[in-house]
Amino acid sequence: METSILVIGGAGYIGSHTAVQIMNSGLSVVIFDNLSNSSRAVLNRIAKLTGRRPTFVEGDIRDRLTLRTTFKNHSITGVIHFAGLKAVGESEEQPLKYYDNNVSGSVVLFEEMQRAGVQTIVFSSSATVYGDPGYPQYSEDTPLAPVNVYGRTKLMVENILLDIKKSRPAWRVASLRYFNPVGAHVSGIIGEDPTGIPNNLMPFIAQVAIGKREKLLVFGGDYPTPDGTGRRDYIHVEDLASGHLAALNKLMNSDDNSPIIVNLGTGRPYSVLEMVHAFEKASNKPVAFEIVDRRPGDLAEYYADRTLAKDILGWEARLGIDRMCEDTWRWQSNNPNGYQ
Ligand code: NAD
Ligand code: UFG
Repeated sequence: METSILVIGGAGYIGSHTAVQIMNSGLSVVIFDNLSNSSRAVLNRIAKLTGRRPTFVEGDIRDRLTLRTTFKNHSITGVIHFAGLKAVGESEEQPLKYYDNNVSGSVVLFEEMQRAGVQTIVFSSSATVYGDPGYPQYSEDTPLAPVNVYGRTKLMVENILLDIKKSRPAWRVASLRYFNPVGAHVSGIIGEDPTGIPNNLMPFIAQVAIGKREKLLVFGGDYPTPDGTGRRDYIHVEDLASGHLAALNKLMNSDDNSPIIVNLGTGRPYSVLEMVHAFEKASNKPVAFEIVDRRPGDLAEYYADRTLAKDILGWEARLGIDRMCEDTWRWQSNNPNGYQ
């Protein structure tokens, strides 16, 4: 039987870009997704970009039997686990939904991996695990103190993986703490397709530029930053995807099987207004905005210390703000209604 990488949540934004890179590196992929926040249409798009259709299993990670059948029917050598709910506000309103999906779901997945003898996993964590340390540059030693339910689910899963590793040293585990993923595949064929009103900055800007929304509300113009707006470490999704390949490669091929926990960011923050202006330049469209009150829970600024990812994985982000905006615009303008 041909060996494959199981990409859980692989129909989603980051998972689909990573699946393309894995397939283009010569490996086969099985995508497992319940399509709760994604569309089946992405499978044809992935086929367009890779020349092969990935195997697809429609399933939920809380459904043990579907997972078991998937491990039985395919020769899986490693798992990349993107499946999760990710809206911070919703996680505060519906904590059980988040603990069930993100934490219980992960436990079922790890149990079924153990049962199937699959011991290699890369997990999507988030810079949210750090909370608010009081300084902007986060290294992996920054105290772990998430300030919302979503962040706590991510930290719990990281810790579960470390406990599994302690009890079963043959496991190979990596948790990748993403900063702010943006951008799209350079072809404009796959990209981020949020349902409803986007929570995040970049898809919102893109929808203003294309005329779907009137103006961007800039949350806060009085932060202690150079232009008064919040600053974040935006990272191109193609760089994130290559970070997963680097982690998978390290787990599968290195003699050192210590657990890997690293930040994936560029180390260079941009303000909301810098993003707006870069997007106007890339799209040649005006992006109307209005500065309004701060959004509760937001910090003025944070960005990654990216040293460890470079040391451990030999990986670093390559694409800058221009490509982030150009590629988002190509995706948005070629697909004004996303995958519909
Ligand atoms: P996404 O919603 O586009 O992708 C997640 C995918 O998982 C979706 O296709 C969804 O249908 C699927 N899924 C969710 N719950 C599932 C379940 N129980 N069983 C099977 N499939 C399920 O999100 P994304 O932006 O691609 O994020 C991927 C991962 O990265 C998530 O775990 C997220 O928490 C994490 N992350 C994202 C960001 C970000 O800003 N996008 C930042 C840090 C971390
Ligand atoms: N912003 C606006 N207007 C908007 C949306 C965002 O001004 O309509 C601003 C925010 O105030 C912030 C910046 O743009 O300064 C980025 O906001 P996002 O919502 O895009 O991203 P966050 O940094 O708030 O959140 C991201 C992920 C979360 C994750 C968090 C911490 O989306 O999933 O990073 O890692 F929890």
